[in-house]
Amino acid sequence: MSTWRAVAKVGDVRSGDVIAIKLEELELVLGLDGDRYFATQRHCVHRGGDLADGIVSRGCVVCPHHGWRFSTLTGRAPESDDHRLKTYAVRVVGDQIEIDPQPQEQSKE
Ligand code: FES
Repeated sequence: MSTWRAVAKVGDVRSGDVIAIKLEELELVLGLDGDRYFATQRHCVHRGGDLADGIVSRGCVVCPHHGWRFSTLTGRAPESDDHRLKTYAVRVVGDQIEIDPQPQEQSKE
């Protein structure tokens, strides 16, 4: 059963940027890495920094507090397998950006 939810429109987030998204009880960020959208939990696993104030750089979302980096594909910190964000599937339908509120499986890839 589809659980996709429209959260934004194409153009609401610029390449290299992230925006805060509230999806039911979930606090997320939606980002644009090149031409690929991604979504993760909003608050950093280090000390809860707000990733909505972060940036996207070299395939990672970068926390504004202490600079920890997390892959926009896997949510994993390149420096440590133990540090990873929950990630969520994103798709574009017409001019709508949709997120599946079920967290993605966290593979070791
Ligand atoms: S709170 Fe994100 S790096 Fe420290």
